[in-house]
Amino acid sequence: MTNTVIPPADGTKSETDLDPFLDPWTEIERLRRQKNAVILAHYYQDEEIQDLADFVGDSLDLSRRAAATDADVIVFCGVRFMAEVAKILSPEKTVLLPDAAAGCSLEETCPPDAFRRFREAHPDHLAVTYMNCSAEVKAYSDIIVTSSNAEAILAQLPEGQPILFAPDQHLGDYLARKTGREMTLWPGTCVVHDQFSERQLVKLKVHHPNALVVAHPECHDGILGHADHVGSTRSILNFVVAAPGREFIIATEPHIIHQMKKAAPGKTFIPAPGADGGCNCSYCPFMELNTIEKLYLALVNTAPRVEIPEDLRLRALKPLQRMLEMSPPAKTAPARAA
Ligand code: 13P
Ligand code: SF4
Repeated sequence: MTNTVIPPADGTKSETDLDPFLDPWTEIERLRRQKNAVILAHYYQDEEIQDLADFVGDSLDLSRRAAATDADVIVFCGVRFMAEVAKILSPEKTVLLPDAAAGCSLEETCPPDAFRRFREAHPDHLAVTYMNCSAEVKAYSDIIVTSSNAEAILAQLPEGQPILFAPDQHLGDYLARKTGREMTLWPGTCVVHDQFSERQLVKLKVHHPNALVVAHPECHDGILGHADHVGSTRSILNFVVAAPGREFIIATEPHIIHQMKKAAPGKTFIPAPGADGGCNCSYCPFMELNTIEKLYLALVNTAPRVEIPEDLRLRALKPLQRMLEMSPPAKTAPARAA
C-alpha cells in the first residue's frame, strides 16, 4: 500500500524533547495564527482536541470543510483516510496528521490489491465504496459514500444496477435492507462498532426503560435492531439534541458524548456496553493516538504530512467528486467547538 504520510525528519522535535512546563494550548494558538492553520477534528477525538478545534464534524462535514478552507495548513485530528481525503480535495494545502499511525480497522481489512481483484471479478458492478478506506481503494472505486449520504446516493443509481459495497459489511447490510438494493459486500468490520454486545445492551435497557438507543450503522444487526435512530455521527448528535427523551444509550465511539453534553446539558448519555458490560474497548484505538502534544509537534515540525502521488490523487479524486456532486446539501453546519 502506498505510504501517504511522511513522518517527521530525523532531528526534529519529539515528545521526549518537550519542556514539561510547556503550555501546548497557548503554543498551538500561536502556531495556528502564525502558520494560517485550521484544526479540523472528528467527534471521536479526545475532548481537549475537540475543544480547541476550529470545526468538529462527521467525515462528510470535515471533507467539505477541508475542500472549502482558505487556510494554508490543515491539521486533521482524525484518522489517515480522513486526512488523505483533505489532501485529495485540497492538494495545494499542507495537510498534517498528528500521529502517522492513526489508521482505521476498516481500511486494514481492505488491501488495495485484493479490492482490485474483487472489482475485476465483478466487471458489470458499480463500486460504491465507504469513505473509510485507503486512497488506493478509492482510486479503484466509482463513487465514495459516507454514512450520512449513502442512502441518498444509492437512490440516484439506476434500478437493477449491480453494486459492490466495501469495506464495511454491517453498513452495507444496513443499506441493502433500507434501500432494497442487492449489494455484494466486502467482509470488513470496524473494531469499535463490532464489539458492542446485544445481550449487554438488552440488560442495560432493562435498567433504563425510557432510554432511546442511537447507533452508528457500522454496528452489527444485533445492535441496530434495538436502535430508535441509526445515522452518521452528526445525525446521531442532531437526533439526541432534538428528541424529547431525557436518556440515551449511545452505540458509537463514546468521545462524541462530549458534544452531546455541550449541546444538551440536561440530558443523560450512556455509552453502549461491550461484551464485558463496560465501554472501555469502544474507544477507537486509532483516533486515540492523536494527543494535544502531538498536535503541537505536528505544527512545529510540519509533519507527519500527507503526500499523495499525483496520479493516485487524480484517480481517487474522481469518485470523491462524484460523492460531493451527489450528496444532499448540508442541512446543519458542523458543530463548532466552544
Ligand atoms: P461518520 O462519517 O459518521 O463521522 O463516521 C466515521 C467513522 O469513522 C465511524 O467509525
Ligand atoms: Fe475506523 Fe472504526 Fe475508528 Fe471509525 S471507529 S476510524 S471505522 S476503526
